[in-house]
Amino acid sequence: MARRIILDCDPGIDDSVALSMALFHRSLDIVAITAVEGNVPAEMATRNVQTVIEQLDPPRLPRFGAATPNDNSDYRDACFIHGRDGLGEAGFVTADHHQRHLSEKIICDEVRAAPGEISIVCLGPLTNVARAMQREPQFIENVAEIIMMGGSFNGIGNITQTAEFNIYCDPESAREVFQAPVKKILIPLDITSQVQFALNFIDMLPDETNSVGAFLRQVVPYLFRSYHQQLGLESVQIHDAIALLQLLEPELFELEAWAVDVEVKGELTRGMTVFEKRRSRNPAHNLEVARVVDVSAARQAVIKCLHS
Ligand code: BDR
Ligand code: CA
Repeated sequence: MARRIILDCDPGIDDSVALSMALFHRSLDIVAITAVEGNVPAEMATRNVQTVIEQLDPPRLPRFGAATPNDNSDYRDACFIHGRDGLGEAGFVTADHHQRHLSEKIICDEVRAAPGEISIVCLGPLTNVARAMQREPQFIENVAEIIMMGGSFNGIGNITQTAEFNIYCDPESAREVFQAPVKKILIPLDITSQVQFALNFIDMLPDETNSVGAFLRQVVPYLFRSYHQQLGLESVQIHDAIALLQLLEPELFELEAWAVDVEVKGELTRGMTVFEKRRSRNPAHNLEVARVVDVSAARQAVIKCLHS
């Protein structure tokens, strides 16, 4: 039976690749896609989720949740990587969706309707899950598991010296979710960034006769430009697609249980994920962390999923 999933995301080019993999995958039943402020501000994230669904035109339409701004005064977007519109400045036009529900309401509703059955895949900041917990404190007990792209095991960040982008955007929410009594799997930056894609990735996308190929061929080239111009890199990292693989091909990862918290105060370390590495302390583990990935198999799995 297909696994029932809520995809919480902030498209974003790598989010778009992950959505392209997930929406057509036989083993997943995407019950909802909920937008969260992150790579782009809330209104644009909401619009981009609609755009991606429209462009991909999947066989079953998921429910859809709208983002609202987070409460973090340090928040900044990542348009320098994903383009001013978050989708590679491809110029997509999307009609306004009038009937909007907040992401956290959709998350609570879907989990309440199918207790214990729904996994949440978080590909952006953890704002919506934290808000769902505040809205309905018992909601978390009914979540099957949460799979998150975020944080950094080795302590090296991508938005600051120490913080990974998704956690940096809303550290307080991340801290709340990390402490929540539910099974959690974290796919950190030091795992996702090992799987690099060279320029020939574009040639390996489905062709334009297919909605996935037609969409990604308009969006992905921008990522190569921004990695080159902003980061001086010739290969790109598609973090969210790698995190999604944890669900689709779990054997590609080795997981370990760890005690981890989020720094919410430090001037240089706000948004850093802090792992209890003093083994002698015998800490209470609060989540599982991917520590090893089969890099070449993961790269192939992304391409295979995009063709499925
Ligand atoms: C994460 O930050 C975002 O820019 C990406 O979409 C990914 O979710 C990587 O740090
Ligand atoms: Ca993302």
